[in-house]
Amino acid sequence: MKIIMLGAPGAGKGTQAIKIADKYGIPHISTGDIFRQNIKSGTELGKKAKSYMDRGELVPDDVTIGMLLDRISEPDCAAGYVLDGFPRTIPQAESLTRALEERGEKVDYALDIEVPDANIVERMSGRRACPKCGNTYHVVYAAPVMENICDRCGAELMIRADDKPETVQERLDVYHRQTEPLIRYYRGENILREFDGTQELEKVFQDIVEVLG
Ligand code: AP5
Repeated sequence: MKIIMLGAPGAGKGTQAIKIADKYGIPHISTGDIFRQNIKSGTELGKKAKSYMDRGELVPDDVTIGMLLDRISEPDCAAGYVLDGFPRTIPQAESLTRALEERGEKVDYALDIEVPDANIVERMSGRRACPKCGNTYHVVYAAPVMENICDRCGAELMIRADDKPETVQERLDVYHRQTEPLIRYYRGENILREFDGTQELEKVFQDIVEVLG
């Protein structure tokens, strides 16, 4: 099963993508996590991505598309995957459609998690992220069992550099300008499914599972 997660920054794409990946036994591929790991290890890719991410802008398509298409060609992706944070522009979506068509494949579902902008800034201010396994928490809505320690891998949790309120606002603006048009694109492909992301996160997951089966 090949799944794309759509939604504004902070809508809960990562939270739901990890649960989907666990339930259906497919890899969770987050382009944001790949960039953050590269920044941490000081690679050329990380150096290129960092300045864009710090400003809340998108990393250019010529960097992102090749990286993602390479990742989904790896053997663990043979039975499908859940893409979190890709595609984010129409050229990214078209490249993915083309690359899959060449292999006789297609995306099965584009899951759009809808949350109004007003809720997003509050969510981001309480987010804590695991720098090691990528799991995401919230100090109120999804707290870890031990304060500031990842339930999955035991690493110390951190606040993401791009979760400052002014950067969050820029990320929201970029989302509406560059990424929201994908909703129309995937509606046109007849694979769009929309979810109310303001609900409690287990309820959002139940709604998703009802669709995926
Ligand atoms: P990325 O890491 O993808 O960030 P994002 O899309 O901005 O999304 P987030 O990870 O911030 O939010 P999310 O929707 O996953 O929410 P989460 O589940 O954490 O990208 C970062 C940057 O990398 C981009 O700005 C860009 O520069 C670059 N980049 C990445 N991909 C790219 C691409 N394809 N092209 C170009 N550039 C790219 O939840 C948020 C918080 O809310 C958490 O604390 C969570 O616990 C809580 N929460 C979740 N669900 C609920 C709920 N139902 N109720 C209450 N709280 C909830």
